[in-house]
Amino acid sequence: MRPDKQEIIEMLSLTDKSQIEALYKKAYEVKKQYVGTKVYFRGIVELSNICSKNCYYCGIRSGNTKVGRYTICKEEVLAEAKWCHEQRYGSIVLQAGERESKAWTDFITELILGIKEISGGKLGITLSMGEQTEDVYRQWREAGAHRYLLRIETSDPELYTTLHPPNHSYARRLECIRTLKKLGYQTGTGVMIGLPGQTAEHLAGDILFFYDEDIDMLGMGPFIPHHDTPLGYLIGTYDPEQALTGGLKMIAACRIALRDVNIASTTALQALMPTGRELGLLAGANIIMPNITDTSYRDGYQLYEGKPGLDENARSSRDNLEQSILSIGESIGYDEWGDSRHYKGKAQDPTDKPS
Ligand code: 5AD
Ligand code: SF4
Repeated sequence: MRPDKQEIIEMLSLTDKSQIEALYKKAYEVKKQYVGTKVYFRGIVELSNICSKNCYYCGIRSGNTKVGRYTICKEEVLAEAKWCHEQRYGSIVLQAGERESKAWTDFITELILGIKEISGGKLGITLSMGEQTEDVYRQWREAGAHRYLLRIETSDPELYTTLHPPNHSYARRLECIRTLKKLGYQTGTGVMIGLPGQTAEHLAGDILFFYDEDIDMLGMGPFIPHHDTPLGYLIGTYDPEQALTGGLKMIAACRIALRDVNIASTTALQALMPTGRELGLLAGANIIMPNITDTSYRDGYQLYEGKPGLDENARSSRDNLEQSILSIGESIGYDEWGDSRHYKGKAQDPTDKPS
């Protein structure tokens, strides 16, 4: 049943602390019933911070000349993938700024094939490489990537326009999401929460968008201003506590309205509070994406202010994370792809491996 917009607006507009707690509890019950309390890990490699886009909110936008640009070489990516596999994380995510060129497409294809090889086909592969042509998405799908993350950022075309330069197209972004679905990718999208000009009505519209587009996975996080961006002026009035609550309420509302999708508890929550990701799990999320990028690159991938884990190594992050997940009474789905129940419920390509 299509979720009721008014009901969602009411959830998102709650201000009373005990009512907000009750919302998280309700979402947690829905999560238990529809997806269970197993958390799936996807190790994320921030492959390159080179980006041709210039989104007004993002610290690695092409217009930010203060960032040193990097791309991690194939050998290092494969070493990180091997580590990820040895840790028994079921999946790896390759994320990078947006780049469209044959050399880049082929490089990613090589990485996909290499990861398949070193993990004996066991490591699930998710890409987050922005907008690409259908042919490129097909090439990567055929090479073995099976999930793709492309956030719509906001489903409201007018709000989208205020956050991006005129040459960024909402229509193309939407088209890309639809193409990914058509090609059989398990498709993830999401929005930022607390954007300037964004209302509860916008966010409720986002949830209906996820429903209407039949989305399998969600990655959402609070907007956090970055000083070297056009939206950096918002730092002075930014309220981290309110931003965190806004992000958690959105996770809860998505779980209640959409039930069986995978929802990531994102690093942006952790940036606002050290235990932010655990709070996300308690508000209805069921996926965590530990950063497995070598620490030496992390400084260059600051999408927003105060991104955590800059001086942390992947191993210590892993141990801390495991402890904190167990401490809230959840378990970890080691060695499993952890496909979204929502995706599994649909007719599948029989060659896809069940998990
Ligand atoms: N605050 C929070 N999230 C951000 N992203 C980019 N910039 C910011 C910011 N300032 C998110 C976008 C993008 C993802 C990779 O990071 O939603 O899709
Ligand atoms: Fe590039 Fe993504 Fe940042 Fe936009 S949000 S500038 S597409 S990395």
